[in-house]
Amino acid sequence: MKKNIIEETERFVRKELGDDVTGHDWFHVDRVRRNALHICKQEGKGDPFIIEMAALLHDIPDEKLNESMEKGEQKLHSFLESLPIGTIAKAHIKKIVNTISFKGGHTSKLETVEAEIVQDADRLDAIGAIGIARVFAFGGKKGQPIYDPGIQIRREMSLEEYRNGKSTSIHHFYEKLLKLRDLLNTKTAKDMAEERHRMMEAFLDQFFSEWNGREL
Ligand code: ADP
Ligand code: NI
Repeated sequence: MKKNIIEETERFVRKELGDDVTGHDWFHVDRVRRNALHICKQEGKGDPFIIEMAALLHDIPDEKLNESMEKGEQKLHSFLESLPIGTIAKAHIKKIVNTISFKGGHTSKLETVEAEIVQDADRLDAIGAIGIARVFAFGGKKGQPIYDPGIQIRREMSLEEYRNGKSTSIHHFYEKLLKLRDLLNTKTAKDMAEERHRMMEAFLDQFFSEWNGREL
């Protein structure tokens, strides 16, 4: 039964994410699901069904993929309503999806271990080698430069600046990606983040060394 529900959810998510290539694609969702289940197993806590469902659905209401956040939330709501699962489970899945985003999760404390695990898995996919690839894919789509030394690197940006301000993909490392390691909830994710974090630091060192021609 649960297997059928998971499969139906996979089909729905594949269809909804369609041909998005900006980092919110099916493969991202699949990695988040895999990492979330791995964390669940390692930590020995959390309900794997809730975790897998929330991981699969976590990007469905994203405002970048919908006309508005309300439309996205509505889409998630009607899909969940169509499934033969209990009201409490549905509400839990919806709550996780609606609260784990960086902006939401940054300010509000997560309420369940399932939410913490899915958030960790999503954050792990934003750092390391995959994270580096996703930043430039997303930045390119947005039409944002790789880097611009004329724009100051600021570690604390307001939400408005973060959304609309002039930024570059390299700036995004300082605005968000280098902060994620210290925001993780579980020990398993923190351990997994170490190497990924070091990769990003090494990448940035090399990037600036090449940019500034220090090797010449
Ligand atoms: P998610 O929904 O997966 O938690 P986001 O929607 O914030 O994450 O971002 C999706 C991907 O796009 C991430 O890999 C993130 O690093 C990247 N990204 C988000 N905002 C920017 C930006 N301003 N510049 C470059 N990359 C970005
Ligand atoms: Ni995501």
